[in-house]
Amino acid sequence: MTGPATPFTAIVLAAGQGTRMKSSLPKVLHTLLERPMVSYPIDAALAAGAERVVVVVGVGREQVEAALSARYDGRVTTALQAEQRGTGDAARCGREAVAGVSGRLVILCGDTPLLTAAAIAALLESTDADTRLALLTSTLDDARGYGRILRDGDGRVRAIREDRDCTEAERAIREWNPGVYAIDADFFDRSVAGLSTDNDQGELYLTDLVERAAAEGGVADAAWPAEDLHGINDRAALVACEAALRRRRATELAAGGVTLRDPETTFVGADVVIEPDVTIEAQVHLRGKTRVGAGAHIDVGCVLTDTTVHAGAKLLPYTVSSESAIGAESRIGPFTHLRPGSELAARVHLGNFVETKKTRIGEGSKANHLAYLGDGVVGSGVNVGAGTIFCNYDGFGKYVTVLEDGVFIGSDSQLVAPITVGKGAYVATGTTVTMDVPAEAMAIGRARQQNKAGLATRLKEKLKAQAARLKGKK
Ligand code: UD1
Ligand code: CA
Repeated sequence: MTGPATPFTAIVLAAGQGTRMKSSLPKVLHTLLERPMVSYPIDAALAAGAERVVVVVGVGREQVEAALSARYDGRVTTALQAEQRGTGDAARCGREAVAGVSGRLVILCGDTPLLTAAAIAALLESTDADTRLALLTSTLDDARGYGRILRDGDGRVRAIREDRDCTEAERAIREWNPGVYAIDADFFDRSVAGLSTDNDQGELYLTDLVERAAAEGGVADAAWPAEDLHGINDRAALVACEAALRRRRATELAAGGVTLRDPETTFVGADVVIEPDVTIEAQVHLRGKTRVGAGAHIDVGCVLTDTTVHAGAKLLPYTVSSESAIGAESRIGPFTHLRPGSELAARVHLGNFVETKKTRIGEGSKANHLAYLGDGVVGSGVNVGAGTIFCNYDGFGKYVTVLEDGVFIGSDSQLVAPITVGKGAYVATGTTVTMDVPAEAMAIGRARQQNKAGLATRLKEKLKAQAARLKGKK
């Protein structure tokens, strides 16, 4: 093999069933921070300088290929391993897809999402011109489940023994195999056919190439911390690895000027962007392509999906929003629900139990209590009173409510769409608006009130007597 700067081809093994996940979804498509597991080693390989990446697929092939083509362009291709005969066979399938290519094959597992480009770089650094196979190694007090590194009397790596094939003494070895290799393509081609199924699982083990390379005096190894190398075989490991990625993200965000008050309970998806000087309180979940602008404050329990929060906005506790935008300096919540298509301009105030859907709200407008604003176009400087409802749906179609600039809607009013309330108009409290309201007009639609002197006293006496009669009958 040649020096560390030479370009390499990465082969990511991702054809296995992942039986221990007990899932209908292929293991490598389970997500961490909302990205498929397999995307992490792919991204690490690309960041480390891989010229191309071949992902070996098998179980759930269509699903895996669809996920890959959604994320990557031509630099990531797939190779099929029709039958899962072991990691050695999987690597061979990957190699066939890039048969003519010489140089180094960096072979990774699709189930190691903590792997970093720096670890791959360290692996490549360990190689020299005589290296047939280089591998990362790591140590754990309890390396249960992993292949163990066997070294000879001079401390050179001699072989890898799978956990299930280990003797009692070998099982006590703390040095384990993370499954990250750089293999010289020529060595790979002449050795892979020699793999045998002589092991507990009856599979072709890629790890058996280590013994072969060692026999030619061509093994290199580099130690690397376990925290970047854990593999996922079951759901407990999935959750543990995601927690590790969350901690990594929290550290990066802090360095970028973001306060995550309680990183352990805060979820920030991998595609979320947060600008500096943002504060995020405990138990906030930011998902999808959510973006949070500088200086915003997101209080406890907010759940935002594909939402843009512009600079300086304040989200009070338990605001829930999807596919929406919140204007600069707005104040939303507590307990506001923005459903898809809610577009709020700057300085909008929405308060307790206000629900919006597919509604644009202009600058400085307010709806502070208990309202449903669905399919609306609301101008600027509008005040929507408590208990207002946009009656947007008649059981068949959905219609739009338009409130022009400066409109005032009194509490407990209903606007039966399609309807327009003109600029500066006033809707009296308790009105059911069924006709368009012209600009600067006042709409009032409710029964006229009458006050009957002394009637309350007489009514109470009558009701009291009636109750006494009924009691006497029992
Ligand atoms: C493997 C290593 C073990 C190492 C561990 C690190 C072998 C024989 N063992 O064990 O030494 O400590 O990884 O995490 O290599 N795969 C295929 N086709 C197959 C079989 C597996 O593509 O026929 C893929 C899987 O999808 C997975 C990866 O290879 O992404 C590793 O396979 P897995 O069965 O998880 O191997 P381990 O038992 O974890
Ligand atoms: Ca594994």
